[in-house]
Amino acid sequence: MFTYEQYKESAEYVKDKLAGRTPEFLVVLGSGLGNLAQMVDNPIYIPYSDVPYFVVSTAIGHVGRFVAGNIGGKLVLMMQGRFHMYEGWTAEQVAYPIRVAKLVGINNLIITNAAGGVNREFGPGDLMLIDDFIRLCIENPLIGQNIPEFGERFCDMTYTFDKEYQRLFEQIAIENGVSLRHGVYYFASGPMYETPAEIRAMRLLGADAVGMSTVHECIAANHCSMRILGISLITNMAAGVLDCRLSGEEVIEAGNRASGKLSRMVYDFICKA
Ligand code: HPA
Repeated sequence: MFTYEQYKESAEYVKDKLAGRTPEFLVVLGSGLGNLAQMVDNPIYIPYSDVPYFVVSTAIGHVGRFVAGNIGGKLVLMMQGRFHMYEGWTAEQVAYPIRVAKLVGINNLIITNAAGGVNREFGPGDLMLIDDFIRLCIENPLIGQNIPEFGERFCDMTYTFDKEYQRLFEQIAIENGVSLRHGVYYFASGPMYETPAEIRAMRLLGADAVGMSTVHECIAANHCSMRILGISLITNMAAGVLDCRLSGEEVIEAGNRASGKLSRMVYDFICKA
C-alpha cells in the first residue's frame, strides 16, 4: 500500500521538473502510440526510474518516461509507456502515476490503448471511444485503506467517461474523415492472448474490445474526479474471430500504422478542449 505522503513526494518531484507549471492533460500513450510524444513543443523528459516510488515499465513498445510539452499553447504531460498487471505490478502500482498526476494538479485524462476487436463489425485500424468497461478480476487499485484526499470509499462508476469530451472527439473525427466506433472495453490480465472461448464469452457479456490495460488507471482517475476520454485502437481481431494466430509484433505494427491518425486527432482534441 502506498501512503498519501508517498504520492505527494512523487508529485513534488514531477512538479519540480515542470518548474511550477501545471499541465492541463495527462495523456497515456498505449502500445505503438508513443509517437504523439514527438509532436509536443519544448519537451521535457522525466524517466520513470527517476521518480520516487515509480516502477519501471518493461512492456514492448513502451519507453518508460513522462514527456511534458506544449500542444496548441497548452502544457500536457504524456506517459510514454505505462505499467501493466502482466508485468507483475499490483493494480495500485499500475494506477500510481494517475494519482501522482492528480497531485501535480492535472484534472483531465486522455487514455489510449491497443485492443483486440471482439465486436465482429470492427476491423484492425478502427478507433473506439470507450463508453464503459468490464473488469471481472479481483485486483483493484482502490482495495486497501481509502485515501479520502483522492475520493470516497465507495466510488460511483456511472459516468466514468466524459460525454462532452466524447462529443468533441466525435467532431474531430468527422473533421479528419475518420469513422469512430463506440464500445465496451474488457480487461484481460494477459500476458497471453485470450482463448477463442474467452472471446466468445466476452462478446456474450457485452464487450466490444479486449485489452490488458486502462481499467485500473480509469478507476483511480474516476475516484479522484478526473475527466476521462478513453480511446482504443483496434490493432487486431481478438482470438478466434479470424482463423489465424495473434502476435505481439502485429499489435505494435498496427499501432505504428494507425498512430499518425490517432496522434493527430488527440493533438486536435487538446487544442480545442
Ligand atoms: N487481446 C488483449 N490485448 C490486446 C489485444 C488482444 O487481442 N490486442 C491488443 N491488445
